[in-house]
Parts: sequence; C-alpha cells; structure tokens
Amino acid sequence: MVTNSAKIKSVIGVEGLVGVIGSGAMGAGIAQIAATAGHDVIVYDTNKEALGRAKNNLENALKKLVEKQKLTEQTAQAILKRTQYANELNQFKNCALIIEAIIENLEVKQQLFSSLETIVVKDCILASNTSSLSITSIASACKHAERVIGIHFFNPAPVMPLVEIIPAISTDNKITEVSKKLINSWGKITVLTKDTPGFIVNRVARSFYGESIRIYEEGIADFATIDWALKTFGGFKMGPFELMDFIGNDVNYKVTESVWAQFFHEPRFKPSLTQKRLFEAKWFGRKSGKGYYNYSEGAMQPKPTENEELGKTIFYRVISMLINEAIDSLYLQLASKEDLDLAMTKGVNYPKGLLKWADELGLQNVLNVLENLYNTYAEDRYRPCILLKTKAAKRELFY
Ligand SMILES: NC(=O)c1ccc[n+]([C@@H]2O[C@H](COP(=O)([O-])OP(=O)(O)OC[C@H]3O[C@@H](n4cnc5c(N)ncnc54)[C@H](O)[C@@H]3O)[C@@H](O)[C@H]2O)c1
Repeated sequence: MVTNSAKIKSVIGVEGLVGVIGSGAMGAGIAQIAATAGHDVIVYDTNKEALGRAKNNLENALKKLVEKQKLTEQTAQAILKRTQYANELNQFKNCALIIEAIIENLEVKQQLFSSLETIVVKDCILASNTSSLSITSIASACKHAERVIGIHFFNPAPVMPLVEIIPAISTDNKITEVSKKLINSWGKITVLTKDTPGFIVNRVARSFYGESIRIYEEGIADFATIDWALKTFGGFKMGPFELMDFIGNDVNYKVTESVWAQFFHEPRFKPSLTQKRLFEAKWFGRKSGKGYYNYSEGAMQPKPTENEELGKTIFYRVISMLINEAIDSLYLQLASKEDLDLAMTKGVNYPKGLLKWADELGLQNVLNVLENLYNTYAEDRYRPCILLKTKAAKRELFY
C-alpha cells in the first residue's frame, strides 16, 4: 500500500510530509490543496489563534464542498485526518517539502529558512510563497541554497489555478523540475519564471492599475468611465479601480511600490500619489467600506460617460502598456511566450494572453499608440520595447 508520505516520493524522490508554515489566508489554502491531493500535511503558525482559525476554516470549507456535492463526506474526513497542526517547528523534521507563507518580511523569512535547515533532512525542498521578495535572497540564508525555490500561489489558493515556479539563481534544476511536476499533480497550472521583482503576474499587471490611474490624474476620464472602457472594449471582468478596491489599496499600493523600488525606479512601474493618498486615508476599498468607490449601504455609484471614442482611446492606451510589458518580459527571457500568456489568463483572469492579444490588435497598431504617447509626453515609461519594434517592422506575429 502506498502511504500518504510515500505518495510524494513518486514525484519528488523524497518521502515525507508536506509542511506549511504560516496559516493565514495563503498558508491555510495551500495546506488544503496539499491534503486534498492526498498528502499528509503539517501546519504551523507562531500565532495559536491563527492556527485554530485555519483548522476551523478548513472544516468549514470542506463542509461546503460536501454540501455542494463536490466532495464525499468520506473524502472530507480523510483530508481532515491527513492534516495535523504543530506546536513547534521540530515537528517538521519528517517533511519532504515545506512551503512557507508567513509575514512578507525578508529578515523573518531568512531566519525561518535558516532554522528549518537545522531540523529537516538534507533532501527536503524549502519553498517560499512570497509575492514580492527575491527568492535568491531568501535562499542566501541557507547552507544548501540549491534546495530553495519560489512556489507562488494566488489568492484564494484552492480556487485560483495558477502557480508561478521561481528558481533562485542558486536553485538546482532538479528541484525546479520536481517542484513543477508536484504542483501540476495537485491540479494546478504552473508557469516557470525568473527570479525578478513581481515575477510574471505582479509585474506585467502593473500598468493595468498604473496607466489607468494616470489617465484619471490627467483628467481624461473618471474612475467609472475608465472601468467601463476596459470592461466594454477589453472584456476585462473588472475594471482597474474596481479591482484595486477588491484587492485592497493597501496591498496593491505596497506591491507597486516594491516592484518599482526593486526595478531601480523604472518609470513604467512608478506608484501614484492618488493611490498613496487612498492608502494613507485607509480607504482600502471593499474591506474598509471605501476606496475609489463608496461601499456603504445605499451609496450612489457614479455613472460612466459612455462615449465610444473616449472609451476606445482609454482601452488602447492601457492595453498597449500591458502588451509592451509582456513583450519586454519575453525579450528579457523572464518566461516563455506560452507561460507569459497563461500567467495572465489563469492568474488574473485576463480575457486573453497579452501576446496573443498583440497579434490580434496588430503589432504596428500597438507600436503606434506607444510611439504617440512617447512623443507626446517625452517620458521613458512609454518607450516601446525593442522586440515590439523589430517584430512590427518585419510584420511578424508572436504565434
Ligand atoms: N494574500 C495574498 O493575496 C497573497 C498572494 C500570494 C502570496 N502571498 C504571500 O504569502 C505570504 C503570506 O501571506 P498571507 O496573505 O497569507 O498573510 P497572513 O497575514 O494572512 O498570514 C501570515 C501568517 O504567518 C504567521 N507568521 C508570521 N510570522 C511567522 C513565523 N515566523 N513563523 C510562523 N508563522 C508566522 C502569522 O501569524 C499569520 O498567521 C506572504 O509572503 C505574501 O506575500 C500573499
């Protein structure tokens, strides 16, 4: 009989449990995925209340799945039985893989990884779910940096299909290969990306927010009109301002600031004062009741100006910036064109991959929009990527 801890051996070559450290929003979801995939899972959090909450949330999530007939009662019980909660890190000594989802702080993560190395077997893979920190710098705290990798889930982890796999410059190729294989076996869609700020999704998506805010700041249109334009002409499920309010202007602002700073203040990623003020006022969005929009009961929602010409101008400006970022990411070998497109459709629900979209809109048309912006503003943020220029000149397509 294959035991639960032997199950992982068939994929990664090491027998043991899946450990999850940090049982907040992400850790709890990751533990649920691993236990559902049939692994024995052990979860730890320095905050005992958070650990208790994760246990309750797992029970409730499984109960709902049983009610919706997506899971049998027997399977739900088996998942609960496979999930244990630890009082101390020493209990992680039998892990084959540990995924860390603790506070987003480099020193705290480095300390954790360095102490884990004194506990675990030498083949245990150590993974971080960080959204914005360098995997290489986390790995640098370890004696065996070659076993450290980024495995980046999206929120809510049990629902979102995408996982970014991020080897540090020190990661062993074999570790990358088996990590990808394992996460695929959990039913997720994985994309492989270089260890650069924001990885794929949190880098390429920046202009969806940044350029939209810029259009608002210039007085070209209000929030409601910009949201309407991107939903109507782009087919996005949510407009940028609705989405920022949904993500939280605290989280979204911090990610922007971090990506911008880590890219040595690249103007394409520059944060906006508009969003900074919302952050300072604690107008975080839905969760605080107010953001770009007012979420209090009975609040009047602003109506968009449904002018087709204006709407199309807004859409073309934002989509051209997004496409330019995707092309630049391809040019700088961040990921393959297929993975770049998968990341945006599966990680943030874009209606199409951006490179496929570029082909459809016409590379020369996208280039014209960017060159026009670049000539008008004389700002570096609008410079078209060299790969876009050469491909447009040769009339080539991405697919
Ligand atoms: N929330 C998201 O949308 C999202 C998406 C992808 C990745 N991430 C990343 O996942 C990680 C966790 O994010 P989250 O949203 O789940 O945070 P969270 O605040 O919900 O949970 C973090 C948990 O870690 C615990 N913790 C803190 N320090 C610890 C330590 N030293 N040892 C053990 N436990 C510790 C906290 O008590 C808390 O319960 C972060 O690195 C974040 O960047 C977050």
